[in-house]
Amino acid sequence: ARGLVVAIDGPAGAGKSTVSRRLAARLGYTLVDTGALYRAIALAAREIGISWDDGPGLGSLARRLPLALEPSEEGSRVIVDGEDRSSDIRTPEISQGASIVSQHPDVRVALLDLQRRLGAEGGVVLEGRDIGTVVFPDAEVKVFLTASDEERARRRTAELQARGAAQPIDQVLAEIRERDRRDSTRPIAPLKPARDAITVDTTALDLDAVVETLVGIVRGAS
Ligand code: C5P
Repeated sequence: ARGLVVAIDGPAGAGKSTVSRRLAARLGYTLVDTGALYRAIALAAREIGISWDDGPGLGSLARRLPLALEPSEEGSRVIVDGEDRSSDIRTPEISQGASIVSQHPDVRVALLDLQRRLGAEGGVVLEGRDIGTVVFPDAEVKVFLTASDEERARRRTAELQARGAAQPIDQVLAEIRERDRRDSTRPIAPLKPARDAITVDTTALDLDAVVETLVGIVRGAS
């Protein structure tokens, strides 16, 4: 049978990337990290000299920039114009940039088709902010993954440290809150649970427990 479309949405630092990668591996599904696409636009704009406030300019960039996601050990690689930029998009600066460029309707529309094509065959876990609400409103499985602000800041701080890019936890917390506020108050495709999403609060759960919970939800739906 055709595999399901699994939508994993939620705020920054809730563990979506790690959990989605593990879930996809367990199910034998493809992983689609949609945040990587917005990050790639922010990075390319910065390098070309297009302002993060220039909606039409960013929209035109998003329509012409060759973007691809490839599976990898770490989850997925983002290929921008033929080059692997996976680590360049994971800086705090590009996190904020992605959240700024993603507010522009032109950018969101330009990336919509690509995301839908990446999920069209089913057997896919897509993670982002608006997968269950906008990109795949008919997804068979919708999860809203969340955790307390403090716990999300703690996880993100540990992740940055492991990558040799340590930042004080207070700063990480402030940046996460700023990004969530921007993502959830924008007029188009704001961050919010779909009406039919199952919310999973991971504050007190370890990674294995979260993955098991999600495997259970997917099995229940198939
Ligand atoms: O998930 P990640 O932290 O990589 O996403 C970076 C930013 O991209 C988010 O803060 C959000 O502004 C934007 N994004 C979005 N819609 C998605 C995925 C990400 O607006 N489906």
